Amino acid sequence: MSEAKLYRNMGLDLVRTTEAAAISAARWMGLGRSNEADRAASAAMVRALDRLKMNGQIVMAEDSRVGMGLPELHAGKAVGTGRGIATDVMVDPIDGRRLLAYGRAGAISVAAVATRGSMWSPSPAAYMEKMVVNRTAASALVPECLDAPAAWTLALVARAKGKAVRDLVVFLLDRPRHKDLLDEIRAAGARVMLTDDGDISGALLAAAPNGPVDLLIGVGGAAEGLLSACAVKALGGGMLARLAPQSAAERAALIEARVETKRIFTCEDMVAGNQIFFVATGITSGLLLEGVSFEHDRASTNSLILRSETRTRRTIQAEHLITDETDETHLLD
Ligand code: FBP
Repeated sequence: MSEAKLYRNMGLDLVRTTEAAAISAARWMGLGRSNEADRAASAAMVRALDRLKMNGQIVMAEDSRVGMGLPELHAGKAVGTGRGIATDVMVDPIDGRRLLAYGRAGAISVAAVATRGSMWSPSPAAYMEKMVVNRTAASALVPECLDAPAAWTLALVARAKGKAVRDLVVFLLDRPRHKDLLDEIRAAGARVMLTDDGDISGALLAAAPNGPVDLLIGVGGAAEGLLSACAVKALGGGMLARLAPQSAAERAALIEARVETKRIFTCEDMVAGNQIFFVATGITSGLLLEGVSFEHDRASTNSLILRSETRTRRTIQAEHLITDETDETHLLD
């Protein structure tokens, strides 16, 4: 049976959801209140999702890591008008909640849609080990990389890119769990982009052709891993992932759910087929996207739209009319 098709302009509709979430989130920049920001962004995103003509279903809640469980976006929740094509939907209204709360660079809002049954759910996993490269280095990422010393993977990536290891930039979340990995990368001689938060941005920077990052490596959120897989696949990059439980409770939940933890996934394993759209909108300005700016009754946003079928990568700058204090935006057509 041939794969059902998403309509070709779906990305242009989907991006309204991250624009709406980013505008709501951006009002909370630097206020130190990430929960309120999250609630505002999630509510805005749900409202925008429900205007999309699709029979969508959220695959996995984004925040299994922190266990807060925003009721708006639980796994299995129906989103969209209910009419139209059946889809799997993954969203993260704010990737980089702490970045936003402190007014730091790089918080983004993201969403992905694929035909129903395409996305694999890592649930109940909270954490995942990830490696991401762009299409030039995709064939260099072999499953052995996940267990080999970092120097070995760096040498493979450097060779594929025609660079020296010391020229490479490696994106890594700044976490105590990465101490040994960081030491290995430094000893191998590569340069490091040690970042507070936001490994979906890291994956996009690593998967982009001629991007500023050569390799994303390390353990981050599992839901963020699935969203990254959608983006990496649409960019034609390479990704390896494996669940990486970080606590006894997470390990027990995976055993109880009979989830295989040793399996190594490629992005094709995580999101099958080619009917995938991924969108991201900047909340605070970062390397990937400019953040939201406000002036008078207007908000400006910068977004990225990826379509896997055609590998089209669009960047969109939009201006929106803000109609009231709640920032319910009426996106200008
Ligand atoms: P949130 O904004 O949803 O909290 O995620 C930020 C983030 O840095 C993700 O990009 C990353 O995957 C995850 O947190 C890593 O988890 P932890 O902060 O627990 O190490």
